[in-house]
Amino acid sequence: MYNPFEKLNTEKSEPIILGIESSCDETAAAVIKGRTILSDEIASSAKIQAQFGGVVPEIASRAHTDAVAEVVERAVKNAGVTYADIDAIAVTYGAGLLGALLVGVSFAKAFAYALNKPLIAVNHIRGHLAAAYLDAPELKPPFVTLLASGGHTAILYAGSEAEFEILGATLDDAAGEAFDKVARVLGLQYPGGPNIERCAKDGAPVIPMPKMLKGGGGYNFSYSGLKTAVINYCHTKEQKGEEYSKADVAASFQSAAVDVLVEKTVAAAQEKGVDTVTAGGGVVANTYLRNSLQTACQKHGLRLVLPEKRYCTDNAAMIASEGLVQYRLGNFAGMDLTAKASIPLAATLETVQSRRAKE
Ligand code: KG4
Ligand code: ZN
Repeated sequence: MYNPFEKLNTEKSEPIILGIESSCDETAAAVIKGRTILSDEIASSAKIQAQFGGVVPEIASRAHTDAVAEVVERAVKNAGVTYADIDAIAVTYGAGLLGALLVGVSFAKAFAYALNKPLIAVNHIRGHLAAAYLDAPELKPPFVTLLASGGHTAILYAGSEAEFEILGATLDDAAGEAFDKVARVLGLQYPGGPNIERCAKDGAPVIPMPKMLKGGGGYNFSYSGLKTAVINYCHTKEQKGEEYSKADVAASFQSAAVDVLVEKTVAAAQEKGVDTVTAGGGVVANTYLRNSLQTACQKHGLRLVLPEKRYCTDNAAMIASEGLVQYRLGNFAGMDLTAKASIPLAATLETVQSRRAKE
């Protein structure tokens, strides 16, 4: 009989949480104790996916099925804990590729059931936002946070560990999506973001780019105009048979895409009167963004907490970190937990309590 709640103490000072992530092409498992990472394992199918120019959902699901048990075992072993020591199992239930998510969710449910441990459903995006806690365990809201991933880009105000307010967001594409699309136009391989960054190192931001609502549009921004400008620039050059520097295009795009995020994040922090800025999501692994944000925060006397690069892209330590937030709130999932392919940003940021209050 599954009933892990009898002796559960959610006040425990440093619970041990196993995190499992399988929303895209990374099968990951990690163990944290409080906010300290004890282990962090990843098996990626990105190399296989690169042959197809993007993530093929069926291939991702199969790769997760192959890898999940071994990755979880390795995470527990390398953490130096036993299965009995684990206080809760946190798993990404959405958003992401449905078949891929189902592998992690089903595995976590079976694992929780067999060990009679509490199960926690983690929203992937909240995992990205909770990654900052791993870098600075004493970090406490309020702060302003920049979320820049493949699916979402927004500037948020964190009033507490559980509640976020959207201050601004992309009106169209996410930043990561724009990096990936521009990479394709430049003939760079999947994943686009890191390859644009590499290519931009040999170039300079000398090609004029559209303004992306700089100084206007509140804290919102738009990526579709920038993407179209890059596509038009390359196609016009190609049609005229003129040579152009891919490195300059990459550098010009990168600085246009990043500068607006940095400028608006710092402005939002000042308006909100917070002294700390954090960031999360795959695009935050970008060195130009990291350096620009650091410079801007320093200039304005703001503390910047950036997760290490490996905790910006998909990983399970961030899922365990958000698992800890939910553990403390007493938000546990039942054996009826299932995966969700899409979750709107506003719903992502709601607490379970506020959702329940509305129902
Ligand atoms: O957060 P993430 O790993 O997955 C989602 O939850 O979406 O973000 C993936 C996105 C991709 O669009 C990828 O191209 C981008 O993050 N990305 C980067 C870099 N590394 C990953 N973008 C720019 N520079 C990077 N170094
Ligand atoms: Zn992600």
